[in-house]
Amino acid sequence: MGTQKLAVCGGERTVPAGMIKNWPPVDETDKDFVMKSLMGGSHACGPNCEAFQKEYAEWNGSKYAIFTNSGTAALHMGIYACGIGAGDHVLVTAYSWSSSATCILHHNAIPIFVDIDFATINIDTDRIEAAITPRTKAIVVVHLHGLAVNMEKILAIAKKHKLKVIEDACQGHGAMFRGRKTGNWGDCGAFSFNQNKCLCAGEGGMFVTGNEQIYRDALKLWSFGETSTPSEKRDYHAYALGWMYRGSDLVAAFGRAQLAKINRYIEIQNENAAVLNSRLKGIKGLILPYEPERGMHNWYNYTSRIDMKAIGWKGNPQLMRDAVMKALNAEGVPVSVWQSFALPDMTVFKAKNAYGHGCPWSCNGAGDGVEYRIENYPMAVRHTNSHFGMTTPLRAPNRTDAAEKVADAFIKVFENIDRIDPEKILK
Ligand SMILES: Cc1ncc(COP(=O)(O)O)c(C=O)c1O
Repeated sequence: MGTQKLAVCGGERTVPAGMIKNWPPVDETDKDFVMKSLMGGSHACGPNCEAFQKEYAEWNGSKYAIFTNSGTAALHMGIYACGIGAGDHVLVTAYSWSSSATCILHHNAIPIFVDIDFATINIDTDRIEAAITPRTKAIVVVHLHGLAVNMEKILAIAKKHKLKVIEDACQGHGAMFRGRKTGNWGDCGAFSFNQNKCLCAGEGGMFVTGNEQIYRDALKLWSFGETSTPSEKRDYHAYALGWMYRGSDLVAAFGRAQLAKINRYIEIQNENAAVLNSRLKGIKGLILPYEPERGMHNWYNYTSRIDMKAIGWKGNPQLMRDAVMKALNAEGVPVSVWQSFALPDMTVFKAKNAYGHGCPWSCNGAGDGVEYRIENYPMAVRHTNSHFGMTTPLRAPNRTDAAEKVADAFIKVFENIDRIDPEKILK
Protein backbone atom coordinates (compact mmCIF):
# COMPACT_ATOMS: atom_id res chain seq x y z
CA MET A 1 0.00 0.00 0.00
CA GLY A 2 1.22 3.52 -0.82
CA THR A 3 2.12 6.04 1.82
CA GLN A 4 1.19 9.23 0.02
CA LYS A 5 -2.11 10.92 0.86
CA LEU A 6 -4.38 11.07 -2.17
CA ALA A 7 -5.34 14.57 -3.33
CA VAL A 8 -9.00 13.54 -3.21
CA CYS A 9 -8.49 12.95 0.55
CA GLY A 10 -6.74 16.28 1.08
CA GLY A 11 -3.19 15.39 -0.04
CA GLU A 12 -1.10 17.34 -2.53
CA ARG A 13 -1.98 17.04 -6.22
CA THR A 14 0.60 15.36 -8.46
CA VAL A 15 0.20 17.23 -11.74
CA PRO A 16 0.71 20.96 -11.13
CA ALA A 17 -2.24 23.18 -12.06
CA GLY A 18 -1.80 24.61 -15.56
CA MET A 19 0.76 22.00 -16.63
CA ILE A 20 -1.56 20.21 -19.08
CA LYS A 21 -2.22 22.53 -21.98
CA ASN A 22 -5.27 22.67 -24.24
CA TRP A 23 -5.57 20.94 -27.58
CA PRO A 24 -4.91 21.90 -30.33
CA PRO A 25 -1.93 24.27 -30.26
CA VAL A 26 -2.80 27.33 -32.35
CA ASP A 27 0.00 29.39 -33.86
CA GLU A 28 0.54 32.15 -36.42
CA THR A 29 0.02 29.73 -39.35
CA ASP A 30 -3.48 28.88 -38.12
CA LYS A 31 -4.31 32.56 -37.62
CA ASP A 32 -2.97 33.41 -41.04
CA PHE A 33 -4.99 30.71 -42.83
CA VAL A 34 -8.23 31.55 -41.01
CA MET A 35 -7.80 35.34 -41.41
CA LYS A 36 -7.13 34.98 -45.15
CA SER A 37 -10.30 32.94 -45.51
CA LEU A 38 -12.24 35.44 -43.39
CA MET A 39 -11.06 38.37 -45.47
CA GLY A 40 -11.63 36.50 -48.76
CA GLY A 41 -14.95 36.59 -50.54
CA SER A 42 -15.90 32.94 -50.26
CA HIS A 43 -17.10 31.63 -46.91
CA ALA A 44 -19.28 28.71 -47.95
CA CYS A 45 -17.74 25.90 -50.00
CA GLY A 46 -14.71 27.89 -51.13
CA PRO A 47 -11.09 27.52 -52.30
CA ASN A 48 -9.83 26.26 -48.94
CA CYS A 49 -12.36 23.39 -49.11
CA GLU A 50 -11.00 22.32 -52.49
CA ALA A 51 -7.39 22.66 -51.34
CA PHE A 52 -8.12 20.78 -48.10
CA GLN A 53 -9.66 17.86 -50.02
CA LYS A 54 -6.61 17.67 -52.27
CA GLU A 55 -4.09 17.96 -49.44
CA TYR A 56 -5.90 15.48 -47.20
CA ALA A 57 -6.17 12.96 -50.04
CA GLU A 58 -2.44 13.35 -50.64
CA TRP A 59 -1.54 13.01 -46.95
CA ASN A 60 -3.78 9.99 -46.47
CA GLY A 61 -2.84 8.32 -49.73
CA SER A 62 -6.45 8.32 -50.97
CA LYS A 63 -7.49 8.92 -54.58
CA TYR A 64 -10.63 10.98 -53.89
CA ALA A 65 -11.65 13.10 -50.91
CA ILE A 66 -14.77 15.18 -50.17
CA PHE A 67 -14.74 17.74 -47.36
CA THR A 68 -17.89 17.50 -45.22
CA ASN A 69 -19.38 19.35 -42.27
CA SER A 70 -18.95 16.30 -39.98
CA GLY A 71 -17.64 12.78 -39.74
CA THR A 72 -21.24 11.59 -39.38
CA ALA A 73 -22.05 13.14 -42.77
CA ALA A 74 -19.06 11.35 -44.34
CA LEU A 75 -20.24 8.04 -42.84
CA HIS A 76 -23.77 8.51 -44.21
CA MET A 77 -22.30 9.31 -47.62
CA GLY A 78 -20.38 6.02 -47.41
CA ILE A 79 -23.52 4.02 -46.59
CA TYR A 80 -25.36 5.52 -49.55
CA ALA A 81 -22.45 5.36 -52.00
CA CYS A 82 -21.90 1.67 -51.19
CA GLY A 83 -25.44 0.99 -52.37
CA ILE A 84 -26.93 0.27 -48.94
CA GLY A 85 -30.67 0.87 -48.87
CA ALA A 86 -33.93 0.24 -47.03
CA GLY A 87 -33.98 -3.01 -45.10
CA ASP A 88 -30.37 -4.02 -45.69
CA HIS A 89 -28.42 -5.26 -42.67
CA VAL A 90 -25.07 -3.64 -41.85
CA LEU A 91 -22.68 -5.03 -39.25
CA VAL A 92 -21.02 -2.70 -36.77
CA THR A 93 -19.17 -2.92 -33.46
CA ALA A 94 -21.20 -2.87 -30.24
CA TYR A 95 -19.06 -0.12 -28.70
CA SER A 96 -18.44 3.16 -30.47
CA TRP A 97 -19.81 6.63 -31.01
CA SER A 98 -23.53 6.55 -31.86
CA SER A 99 -22.89 7.78 -35.44
CA SER A 100 -21.05 4.56 -36.33
CA ALA A 101 -24.46 2.89 -36.19
CA THR A 102 -26.97 5.73 -36.72
CA CYS A 103 -25.39 6.42 -40.13
CA ILE A 104 -26.84 3.01 -41.09
CA LEU A 105 -30.31 4.05 -39.89
CA HIS A 106 -29.95 7.33 -41.81
CA HIS A 107 -30.34 5.33 -44.97
CA ASN A 108 -33.13 3.11 -43.62
CA ALA A 109 -30.84 0.14 -43.16
CA ILE A 110 -30.55 -1.91 -39.99
CA PRO A 111 -27.51 -2.05 -37.70
CA ILE A 112 -26.53 -5.51 -36.48
CA PHE A 113 -24.08 -5.31 -33.60
CA VAL A 114 -21.03 -7.49 -33.06
CA ASP A 115 -19.37 -7.65 -29.64
CA ILE A 116 -15.93 -6.16 -29.13
CA ASP A 117 -12.65 -7.90 -28.53
CA PHE A 118 -11.95 -6.80 -24.94
CA ALA A 119 -8.20 -6.42 -25.47
CA THR A 120 -8.31 -4.07 -28.45
CA ILE A 121 -11.82 -2.57 -27.83
CA ASN A 122 -12.38 -2.96 -31.59
CA ILE A 123 -14.90 -5.26 -33.27
CA ASP A 124 -14.21 -8.93 -32.53
CA THR A 125 -13.36 -10.17 -36.01
CA ASP A 126 -13.96 -13.78 -34.91
CA ARG A 127 -17.62 -13.01 -34.18
CA ILE A 128 -18.47 -11.25 -37.44
CA GLU A 129 -19.48 -14.25 -39.54
CA ALA A 130 -22.01 -15.47 -36.98
CA ALA A 131 -23.87 -12.14 -37.32
CA ILE A 132 -24.24 -12.32 -41.11
CA THR A 133 -27.78 -12.84 -42.46
CA PRO A 134 -29.01 -13.08 -46.06
CA ARG A 135 -29.78 -9.36 -45.78
CA THR A 136 -26.25 -8.35 -44.75
CA LYS A 137 -24.67 -5.97 -47.26
CA ALA A 138 -21.81 -4.24 -45.49
CA ILE A 139 -19.60 -3.80 -42.42
CA VAL A 140 -18.85 -0.47 -40.78
CA VAL A 141 -15.36 -0.96 -39.35
CA VAL A 142 -14.45 1.47 -36.57
CA HIS A 143 -10.78 2.11 -35.78
CA LEU A 144 -11.66 2.94 -32.20
CA HIS A 145 -9.52 5.28 -30.15
CA GLY A 146 -7.07 5.40 -33.06
CA LEU A 147 -6.16 1.70 -33.14
CA ALA A 148 -6.32 0.25 -36.65
CA VAL A 149 -8.45 -2.89 -37.02
CA ASN A 150 -6.92 -5.98 -38.64
CA MET A 151 -8.15 -5.08 -42.12
CA GLU A 152 -6.84 -8.24 -43.76
CA LYS A 153 -9.27 -10.29 -41.67
CA ILE A 154 -12.11 -7.86 -42.43
CA LEU A 155 -11.45 -7.91 -46.17
CA ALA A 156 -11.28 -11.72 -46.23
CA ILE A 157 -14.73 -11.94 -44.58
CA ALA A 158 -16.09 -9.19 -46.85
CA LYS A 159 -14.84 -10.98 -49.95
CA LYS A 160 -16.28 -14.34 -48.86
CA HIS A 161 -19.74 -12.84 -48.17
CA LYS A 162 -19.70 -10.11 -50.84
CA LEU A 163 -19.95 -7.28 -48.33
CA LYS A 164 -18.97 -3.65 -48.76
CA VAL A 165 -16.60 -2.17 -46.17
CA ILE A 166 -17.02 1.36 -44.84
CA GLU A 167 -14.21 2.45 -42.52
CA ASP A 168 -15.16 4.71 -39.63
CA ALA A 169 -11.76 6.34 -39.28
CA CYS A 170 -13.23 9.33 -37.42
CA GLN A 171 -10.65 8.70 -34.68
CA GLY A 172 -8.11 6.97 -36.90
CA HIS A 173 -6.06 9.73 -38.56
CA GLY A 174 -2.68 8.38 -39.54
CA ALA A 175 -3.17 4.98 -37.89
CA MET A 176 -1.92 2.23 -40.17
CA PHE A 177 -2.49 -1.46 -40.68
CA ARG A 178 0.53 -3.10 -42.38
CA GLY A 179 1.87 0.34 -43.24
CA ARG A 180 -1.29 1.50 -45.03
CA LYS A 181 -3.35 4.29 -43.52
CA THR A 182 -6.94 3.82 -42.39
CA GLY A 183 -9.61 4.86 -44.86
CA ASN A 184 -7.80 3.16 -47.73
CA TRP A 185 -8.59 -0.48 -46.97
CA GLY A 186 -12.33 -0.62 -47.44
CA ASP A 187 -14.55 0.71 -50.21
CA CYS A 188 -14.50 4.11 -48.53
CA GLY A 189 -13.71 5.83 -45.25
CA ALA A 190 -14.83 8.71 -43.04
CA PHE A 191 -12.76 11.05 -40.84
CA SER A 192 -13.87 13.61 -38.27
CA PHE A 193 -12.20 16.93 -37.51
CA ASN A 194 -14.15 17.91 -34.44
CA GLN A 195 -12.58 19.49 -31.37
CA ASN A 196 -11.09 16.40 -29.84
CA LYS A 197 -9.82 14.63 -32.92
CA CYS A 198 -6.16 14.20 -33.93
CA LEU A 199 -6.88 16.78 -36.59
CA CYS A 200 -9.04 19.51 -35.07
CA ALA A 201 -10.70 22.04 -37.35
CA GLY A 202 -13.45 22.82 -34.83
CA GLU A 203 -15.93 20.58 -36.64
CA GLY A 204 -15.90 18.91 -40.06
CA GLY A 205 -15.06 15.65 -41.75
CA MET A 206 -13.62 14.01 -44.84
CA PHE A 207 -14.99 11.26 -47.03
CA VAL A 208 -12.31 9.26 -48.86
CA THR A 209 -12.40 6.53 -51.47
CA GLY A 210 -10.32 5.03 -54.25
CA ASN A 211 -13.38 4.19 -56.36
CA GLU A 212 -14.64 6.73 -58.88
CA GLN A 213 -18.26 5.50 -58.89
CA ILE A 214 -18.43 5.57 -55.09
CA TYR A 215 -16.94 9.07 -55.19
CA ARG A 216 -19.57 10.28 -57.72
CA ASP A 217 -22.43 8.77 -55.70
CA ALA A 218 -21.11 10.23 -52.45
CA LEU A 219 -21.04 13.67 -54.11
CA LYS A 220 -24.79 13.44 -54.76
CA LEU A 221 -25.66 12.86 -51.14
CA TRP A 222 -23.19 15.57 -50.11
CA SER A 223 -24.79 18.44 -52.00
CA PHE A 224 -28.56 18.42 -52.56
CA GLY A 225 -28.58 15.38 -54.86
CA GLU A 226 -26.65 17.31 -57.51
CA THR A 227 -23.99 15.72 -59.67
CA SER A 228 -21.58 18.66 -60.00
CA THR A 229 -19.61 20.31 -57.26
CA PRO A 230 -20.10 24.02 -56.41
CA SER A 231 -16.90 24.88 -58.33
CA GLU A 232 -18.24 23.24 -61.49
CA LYS A 233 -21.09 24.42 -63.72
CA ARG A 234 -24.22 23.51 -61.73
CA ASP A 235 -27.71 22.81 -63.03
CA TYR A 236 -29.23 22.87 -59.52
CA HIS A 237 -31.11 19.66 -60.27
CA ALA A 238 -31.70 17.00 -57.61
CA TYR A 239 -30.80 13.73 -59.33
CA ALA A 240 -31.04 11.80 -56.07
CA LEU A 241 -32.08 12.30 -52.46
CA GLY A 242 -29.40 14.68 -51.21
CA TRP A 243 -28.45 16.32 -47.93
CA MET A 244 -26.37 19.43 -47.35
CA TYR A 245 -23.15 18.03 -45.99
CA ARG A 246 -20.67 20.59 -47.34
CA GLY A 247 -18.20 22.25 -44.99
CA SER A 248 -17.32 25.95 -44.82
CA ASP A 249 -14.19 27.67 -46.10
CA LEU A 250 -13.23 28.99 -42.65
CA VAL A 251 -13.24 25.50 -41.16
CA ALA A 252 -11.25 24.14 -44.11
CA ALA A 253 -8.68 26.92 -43.69
CA PHE A 254 -8.14 25.94 -40.04
CA GLY A 255 -8.03 22.27 -41.07
CA ARG A 256 -5.36 22.93 -43.70
CA ALA A 257 -3.15 24.76 -41.22
CA GLN A 258 -3.47 21.89 -38.73
CA LEU A 259 -2.88 19.25 -41.41
CA ALA A 260 0.55 20.76 -42.08
CA LYS A 261 1.48 19.83 -38.47
CA ILE A 262 -0.32 16.50 -38.03
CA ASN A 263 2.70 14.22 -38.52
CA ARG A 264 4.53 15.95 -35.69
CA TYR A 265 1.42 15.84 -33.50
CA ILE A 266 1.04 12.09 -34.01
CA GLU A 267 4.73 11.58 -33.26
CA ILE A 268 4.28 13.44 -29.95
CA GLN A 269 1.24 11.28 -29.10
CA ASN A 270 3.37 8.18 -29.69
CA GLU A 271 6.16 9.53 -27.49
CA ASN A 272 3.77 10.41 -24.66
CA ALA A 273 1.98 7.06 -24.90
CA ALA A 274 5.35 5.26 -24.78
CA VAL A 275 6.13 6.97 -21.44
CA LEU A 276 2.78 5.90 -19.99
CA ASN A 277 3.05 2.36 -21.34
CA SER A 278 6.48 1.79 -19.87
CA ARG A 279 5.85 3.51 -16.52
CA LEU A 280 2.45 1.92 -15.90
CA LYS A 281 3.16 -1.63 -17.00
CA GLY A 282 2.40 -4.25 -14.35
CA ILE A 283 0.43 -2.02 -11.98
CA LYS A 284 -2.06 -4.14 -10.06
CA GLY A 285 -5.65 -3.45 -11.02
CA LEU A 286 -4.86 -1.37 -14.11
CA ILE A 287 -5.50 -2.79 -17.57
CA LEU A 288 -3.50 -0.68 -20.00
CA PRO A 289 -4.48 -0.04 -23.61
CA TYR A 290 -3.44 -2.69 -26.10
CA GLU A 291 -0.02 -1.74 -27.46
CA PRO A 292 0.41 -2.87 -31.04
CA GLU A 293 3.45 -2.49 -33.27
CA ARG A 294 4.34 1.16 -33.82
CA GLY A 295 2.23 2.97 -36.37
CA MET A 296 -1.01 1.02 -35.85
CA HIS A 297 -2.16 3.35 -33.08
CA ASN A 298 -2.32 7.13 -33.23
CA TRP A 299 -3.06 7.22 -29.45
CA TYR A 300 -6.13 9.39 -29.97
CA ASN A 301 -7.52 8.23 -26.65
CA TYR A 302 -5.47 6.50 -23.96
CA THR A 303 -8.13 4.19 -22.54
CA SER A 304 -7.52 2.09 -19.44
CA ARG A 305 -9.75 -0.36 -17.61
CA ILE A 306 -9.87 -1.32 -13.95
CA ASP A 307 -9.44 -5.01 -13.23
CA MET A 308 -12.09 -5.32 -10.53
CA LYS A 309 -11.11 -8.88 -9.66
CA ALA A 310 -7.46 -7.97 -9.19
CA ILE A 311 -8.32 -5.23 -6.71
CA GLY A 312 -10.87 -7.42 -4.94
CA TRP A 313 -13.84 -5.13 -5.67
CA LYS A 314 -17.13 -7.02 -5.69
CA GLY A 315 -19.53 -4.07 -5.75
CA ASN A 316 -20.88 -2.08 -8.70
CA PRO A 317 -17.91 -1.67 -11.08
CA GLN A 318 -19.07 1.76 -12.23
CA LEU A 319 -18.91 3.07 -8.65
CA MET A 320 -15.30 1.98 -8.22
CA ARG A 321 -14.40 3.31 -11.68
CA ASP A 322 -16.03 6.67 -10.92
CA ALA A 323 -14.22 6.90 -7.59
CA VAL A 324 -10.85 6.13 -9.22
CA MET A 325 -11.55 8.78 -11.87
CA LYS A 326 -12.39 11.30 -9.17
CA ALA A 327 -9.11 10.47 -7.44
CA LEU A 328 -7.17 10.90 -10.69
CA ASN A 329 -8.98 14.16 -11.47
CA ALA A 330 -8.01 15.44 -8.01
CA GLU A 331 -4.37 14.56 -8.82
CA GLY A 332 -4.71 16.82 -11.88
CA VAL A 333 -5.27 14.13 -14.56
CA PRO A 334 -8.21 14.87 -16.89
CA VAL A 335 -9.66 11.36 -17.28
CA SER A 336 -13.29 10.75 -18.16
CA VAL A 337 -15.75 8.13 -19.34
CA TRP A 338 -15.86 8.18 -23.13
CA GLN A 339 -19.17 6.36 -23.75
CA SER A 340 -21.26 5.30 -20.81
CA PHE A 341 -23.59 3.15 -22.95
CA ALA A 342 -22.68 0.39 -25.36
CA LEU A 343 -24.52 0.92 -28.64
CA PRO A 344 -27.15 -1.85 -28.32
CA ASP A 345 -28.09 -0.24 -24.98
CA MET A 346 -28.93 3.13 -26.56
CA THR A 347 -32.62 3.99 -26.75
CA VAL A 348 -32.75 4.67 -30.48
CA PHE A 349 -31.93 0.99 -31.09
CA LYS A 350 -33.63 -0.62 -28.09
CA ALA A 351 -36.89 1.26 -28.71
CA LYS A 352 -36.51 1.03 -32.49
CA ASN A 353 -37.63 4.64 -32.68
CA ALA A 354 -35.58 5.95 -35.62
CA TYR A 355 -38.04 7.12 -38.29
CA GLY A 356 -41.25 6.52 -36.39
CA HIS A 357 -43.83 3.77 -36.95
CA GLY A 358 -41.05 1.24 -36.22
CA CYS A 359 -39.19 2.12 -39.43
CA PRO A 360 -36.84 0.89 -40.75
CA TRP A 361 -37.23 -2.35 -38.73
CA SER A 362 -40.93 -2.68 -39.58
CA CYS A 363 -40.48 -2.18 -43.35
CA ASN A 364 -41.10 -5.41 -45.28
CA GLY A 365 -40.01 -7.58 -42.40
CA ALA A 366 -36.47 -6.16 -42.55
CA GLY A 367 -36.12 -6.18 -38.79
CA ASP A 368 -37.76 -9.55 -38.09
CA GLY A 369 -35.72 -11.37 -35.50
CA VAL A 370 -33.46 -8.38 -34.86
CA GLU A 371 -33.22 -7.70 -31.14
CA TYR A 372 -30.97 -5.39 -29.22
CA ARG A 373 -30.23 -7.03 -25.88
CA ILE A 374 -27.24 -5.69 -24.05
CA GLU A 375 -26.62 -9.06 -22.36
CA ASN A 376 -25.59 -10.41 -25.78
CA TYR A 377 -22.53 -8.13 -25.74
CA PRO A 378 -20.70 -9.06 -22.51
CA MET A 379 -17.31 -7.68 -23.57
CA ALA A 380 -18.80 -4.31 -24.49
CA VAL A 381 -20.58 -4.24 -21.12
CA ARG A 382 -17.42 -5.12 -19.19
CA HIS A 383 -15.52 -2.42 -21.03
CA THR A 384 -18.24 0.22 -20.64
CA ASN A 385 -18.44 -0.34 -16.88
CA SER A 386 -14.74 -0.33 -16.13
CA HIS A 387 -13.05 2.08 -18.55
CA PHE A 388 -11.84 5.64 -18.39
CA GLY A 389 -9.96 7.50 -21.07
CA MET A 390 -7.91 10.62 -21.60
CA THR A 391 -6.88 12.64 -24.61
CA THR A 392 -5.29 16.04 -23.82
CA PRO A 393 -2.26 14.88 -21.78
CA LEU A 394 -1.15 12.83 -24.82
CA ARG A 395 -1.49 15.70 -27.25
CA ALA A 396 0.81 18.50 -28.31
CA PRO A 397 1.89 20.86 -26.90
CA ASN A 398 2.08 18.46 -23.92
CA ARG A 399 5.34 16.54 -23.95
CA THR A 400 6.89 13.72 -21.99
CA ASP A 401 7.38 15.84 -18.83
CA ALA A 402 3.58 16.03 -18.58
CA ALA A 403 3.25 12.31 -19.39
CA GLU A 404 5.72 11.51 -16.57
CA LYS A 405 3.61 13.50 -14.09
CA VAL A 406 0.45 11.78 -15.29
CA ALA A 407 2.18 8.42 -14.80
CA ASP A 408 3.16 9.48 -11.24
CA ALA A 409 -0.50 10.27 -10.55
CA PHE A 410 -1.73 6.91 -11.87
CA ILE A 411 0.86 5.08 -9.76
CA LYS A 412 -0.09 7.05 -6.65
CA VAL A 413 -3.81 6.34 -7.09
CA PHE A 414 -3.41 2.64 -7.88
CA GLU A 415 -0.92 2.11 -5.04
CA ASN A 416 -3.56 3.54 -2.71
CA ILE A 417 -6.57 1.89 -4.31
CA ASP A 418 -7.33 -0.09 -1.12
CA ARG A 419 -8.01 3.26 0.54
CA ILE A 420 -10.56 4.29 -2.08
CA ASP A 421 -14.04 3.92 -0.68
CA PRO A 422 -16.46 4.89 -3.47
CA GLU A 423 -19.26 5.67 -1.04
CA LYS A 424 -17.15 8.25 0.77
CA ILE A 425 -15.31 9.62 -2.27
CA LEU A 426 -18.36 10.02 -4.50
CA LYS A 427 -20.42 11.75 -1.78
C1 LIG B 1 -15.85 6.68 -33.88
C2 LIG B 1 -16.59 7.92 -34.29
N1 LIG B 1 -17.42 7.86 -35.35
C3 LIG B 1 -18.08 8.94 -35.77
C4 LIG B 1 -17.95 10.16 -35.15
C5 LIG B 1 -18.72 11.31 -35.66
O1 LIG B 1 -17.92 12.38 -36.06
P1 LIG B 1 -18.53 13.86 -36.06
O2 LIG B 1 -18.69 14.27 -34.64
O3 LIG B 1 -17.53 14.67 -36.80
O4 LIG B 1 -19.84 13.77 -36.77
C6 LIG B 1 -17.10 10.28 -34.04
C7 LIG B 1 -16.86 11.53 -33.29
O5 LIG B 1 -17.56 12.32 -32.94
C8 LIG B 1 -16.41 9.13 -33.59
O6 LIG B 1 -15.60 9.18 -32.52
